[in-house]
Amino acid sequence: MLSRWIQLSICLLILSACSSLNNQNVDRRSVLQQAVALGGATLLVPPGPALATANISPIATLSDGTKFPLASFGLQIYSDDTAYKLTMTALETGYRNFFASVLAGNQRGFAKAVKDSGIPRKDLFICGSVVSNRASGFANAKRDTTTGWKKNMDAFGVGNIDYLDQIMLDYPGPDCESVLGQWAAFEEMHKQGLTKTLAVSNFNSKQLDCVLEKCSVAPVVNQLPYSVAYHPGNSVEENNKRGVLVQAWAPLGGSLGGKFDSSKKGACAQIGKKYNKSFAQVALRWIVQSGASFNTQSKKVEHFKEDLDIFDFELTPEEMNTLGSLA
Ligand SMILES: NC(=O)c1ccc[n+]([C@@H]2O[C@H](COP(=O)([O-])OP(=O)(O)OC[C@H]3O[C@@H](n4cnc5c(N)ncnc54)[C@H](OP(=O)(O)O)[C@@H]3O)[C@@H](O)[C@H]2O)c1
Ligand SMILES: *[C@@H]1O[C@H](CO)[C@@H](O)[C@H](O)[C@H]1NC(C)=O
Repeated sequence: MLSRWIQLSICLLILSACSSLNNQNVDRRSVLQQAVALGGATLLVPPGPALATANISPIATLSDGTKFPLASFGLQIYSDDTAYKLTMTALETGYRNFFASVLAGNQRGFAKAVKDSGIPRKDLFICGSVVSNRASGFANAKRDTTTGWKKNMDAFGVGNIDYLDQIMLDYPGPDCESVLGQWAAFEEMHKQGLTKTLAVSNFNSKQLDCVLEKCSVAPVVNQLPYSVAYHPGNSVEENNKRGVLVQAWAPLGGSLGGKFDSSKKGACAQIGKKYNKSFAQVALRWIVQSGASFNTQSKKVEHFKEDLDIFDFELTPEEMNTLGSLA
């Protein structure tokens, strides 16, 4: 179990058609032009202006074979109405991967937008979440986590979403027994066919190992704070070698307060000049080339576009190092 490796293999397709994996708009010539080695992962990057469109996101293949767009829109804390509007904007811009955390409090607004968009359910990757880290002991943690995933299904049901692509534990329980209780509830949800994959967030290596040593369904994604401004330890490597893909939260420093300060933004912007890219695009590109995926958010349509338009340039190893040494 510990030796599985993430295979971030290609799929450099136009995202809107990619999830059904039968699209006709693929620029196949460009697909194999460049391969960037990423520790346990390989991501093939399409260069050149032919694919310089906002509507692309390479799709990773998770350790269980699931297709997972590298770029995800994560809803923040705001009303259902705002969630509805921003989800529509994200869908129109080309996002197909969504993280609708229970903590954001607007899963219903999100679900309504999904329904009204008319985009086929199979073309979307939808992840929900459960907060059950206060429950202590196997049985309590399992009970609270079960209540949590059922609440997700009720909320998403508003948009006729009757299964999830992923369910995520927002936080680990207080000890391994409790974490295993959380996990048992998730495995039950999986067994009932209500979620295709299971994921964690804010798990360290020890907490991952607690799950991996006992589970029958392994976690495939770990959402962590990860950015140019914050990347303690070797989290991507540690996760990759356990078959887990890191999905960065606060990839632009949003929820991390002042850590992503103006000098770090300036350093990203400086490198971006060479590629005609903004600080944010360089910061997101650094994450992807580090072997991780990201979950970002915005309220501005031009930012939604920018944040997807990062797959037509490549940072050099020197630039990767420079950016990696800012934190
Ligand atoms: N698992 C966890 O514990 C956890 C914790 C926190 C957050 N999260 C999830 O992670 C998601 C993202 O994290 P975050 O909220 O910290 O956000 P973030 O993506 O790091 O930063 C978002 C901020 O960056 C700005 N921004 C986005 N694109 C930009 C661009 N191209 N140029 C300039 N500014 C840009 C946005 O402002 P504008 O509106 O002006 O674009 C927003 O203020 C959340 O929505 C949530 O789903 C998870
Ligand atoms: C630079 O990027 C902007 C925004 O994407 C675009 O409008 C402009 O045409 C680009 N300039 C060049 C020289 O490519």
